[in-house]
Amino acid sequence: MYKPTRIGHGEIFTGDALKVLPTLPEKNFQLIIADPPYFQVLLEHAWDNVWKSPDDYLAWTVRWVEECKRVLKPDGLLYIFGQLGKREHVWLHVCSSVAHVMQFHDMIIWDRAVGYNERYDSFTPQYEMILALRPTVEANTYFDKDAVRIPYSEEKIQSYLRDNRYKDKVAREKHLRRGKYATNILRVPSLKGTSKEKIGHPSQKPITLIQHLIASGSREGDNILDPFLGSGTTAEAAENLGRRWVGIETDANYTLIAKNRLQKVTRSDLTGNNEYS
Ligand SMILES: C[S@@+](CC[C@H](N)C(=O)[O-])C[C@H]1O[C@@H](n2cnc3c(N)ncnc32)[C@H](O)[C@@H]1O
Repeated sequence: MYKPTRIGHGEIFTGDALKVLPTLPEKNFQLIIADPPYFQVLLEHAWDNVWKSPDDYLAWTVRWVEECKRVLKPDGLLYIFGQLGKREHVWLHVCSSVAHVMQFHDMIIWDRAVGYNERYDSFTPQYEMILALRPTVEANTYFDKDAVRIPYSEEKIQSYLRDNRYKDKVAREKHLRRGKYATNILRVPSLKGTSKEKIGHPSQKPITLIQHLIASGSREGDNILDPFLGSGTTAEAAENLGRRWVGIETDANYTLIAKNRLQKVTRSDLTGNNEYS
């Protein structure tokens, strides 16, 4: 039995997601953010090269997605990060295979703002994808669009207010000051090597990107799961937004990085008790 380290309002399991997930109770998480190994993209990192073939990787993916479906609440979402590029055919097959396990909900484009590899036979890749799945077709998915509105600039607000078709200027201004709905193209610059946010993980995700997913996909106090925690970005984002969380990570060096990171950000206004502990 894996014993987690409790920290802040969450817990970190150092272990294999496929072994830890079955120990978690069903329908426990409102949101699951999974940024799994990509399959032979980071050739110098053993954790991205343990599968013998694409089929082997696909079979593994289906197994952990099945477990995620079991632990997800009926109105929750599972997000899976994936990228095209070197493993293009594998990610396409991942999308297809997991859509047989859960219901396709959305495909979000994470626009990284700058190109990220040296591809010469096509345009330079600049985006990654985040596949959103819900447990069933008929699921009544929780999603708070208001939580992630994008503010208009003052200049835009003033120019919209000059539009004479709107007679009630006060109501119009109130509406504009709420900002606009975010689209499913999220432009968040990826972390450069020199970024202050970088803390020693080769595929660390920007915290604002993860906070955007958490703020819209859960309520304060909800429980969030990250089965491939890496440097702990999901955990830090959850702490910042007052959510509970569980993270799983095989590599003890990364869990140490995550624990150190979390020492600095944990909040004190939640009780921090997960249902199953
Ligand atoms: C793409 S990285 C996640 C990075 C993370 N989102 C962040 O912002 O730091 C994938 C992580 O999965 C971990 N991993 C690989 N195989 C695993 C497994 N079977 N169970 C749990 N974690 C695993 C790797 O060690 C790696 O840290």
